[in-house]
Amino acid sequence: MSEFEASQLTDAVLRSFAAAPDPRTRAVLAHLIGHLHAFVRDADLSLEEWQRAIDFLTRTGHMSGDTRQEFILLSDVLGVSMLVDALNHAGLAGATDTTVLGPFYVGEHRVAPHGSDLAAGAAGERVLVDASVTDAAGVPIAGAAVDVWHANGDGFYDSQKPGYRLDKPELRARFVTGPDGKFSFRTIVPKAYPVPTDGPVGELLRASGRHAMRPAHIHFLIAAPGYETLVTHLFVAGGEYLDSDAVYGVKPSLIVRLEPRDEPTWPDGTPAPARWFRMSYRFALKTKEVAP
Ligand code: BEZ
Ligand code: FE
Repeated sequence: MSEFEASQLTDAVLRSFAAAPDPRTRAVLAHLIGHLHAFVRDADLSLEEWQRAIDFLTRTGHMSGDTRQEFILLSDVLGVSMLVDALNHAGLAGATDTTVLGPFYVGEHRVAPHGSDLAAGAAGERVLVDASVTDAAGVPIAGAAVDVWHANGDGFYDSQKPGYRLDKPELRARFVTGPDGKFSFRTIVPKAYPVPTDGPVGELLRASGRHAMRPAHIHFLIAAPGYETLVTHLFVAGGEYLDSDAVYGVKPSLIVRLEPRDEPTWPDGTPAPARWFRMSYRFALKTKEVAP
């Protein structure tokens, strides 16, 4: 291309990537370039708009690190995370539905004994989460690692607090399932909360007139050898925003009723408040497909 012609540019760029030795890299790049060029053309982007987009992405990167991932959040509010999830988790055949990881998973959690209280004084109504991990046919899986995390009553994760320390977790832990596949813990009933809006993604939501709320939920990441790792949430039935989650993460099978209880003690015999709840669930893992 001796003289620049916009109409020939896309083809020239595609050709320059066409020799990428890895076929999958080649194919993905071709889709990326084709769609990106079409987007710029269709939206008729001005130089100033393009500069604003670069600035937006630069600030998104600057805001991302070990304990805050603004790029994941961007992918979430654009619905891309749930689209990738949907494309990759078709045909679960009895296994539990998946949903977004979110930006507040900080890596492998510290193991806690069954029945532990994750609340550690946090204010809120109390719930016993009583769950099991099985395969898709309902056979218990022993030794599964279950990472659990959720926000406090003000809508913040421990990792969002200034001075957060990985070795001082709040409202997060790992449980290892027993021979019956079971695990349990006590915590506070989660509340609906907004995704972080103090960064570029917040600007995007405000510019679009969208709310930032997520319905009340607890996160679970469950791993066991021979099975696909399950990334999911349990949502509290009857809560606000189940129909308008800011990150499109709600699936009906993940909405769970809190059963009110009035026994004076928790199952381990320690005193319980006058009213507490039980949240029961069976997580079913998908068997990992072995490459032929
Ligand atoms: C969360 O539930 O922690 C979350 C998920 C996606 C975006 C922001 C927060
Ligand atoms: Fe969350």
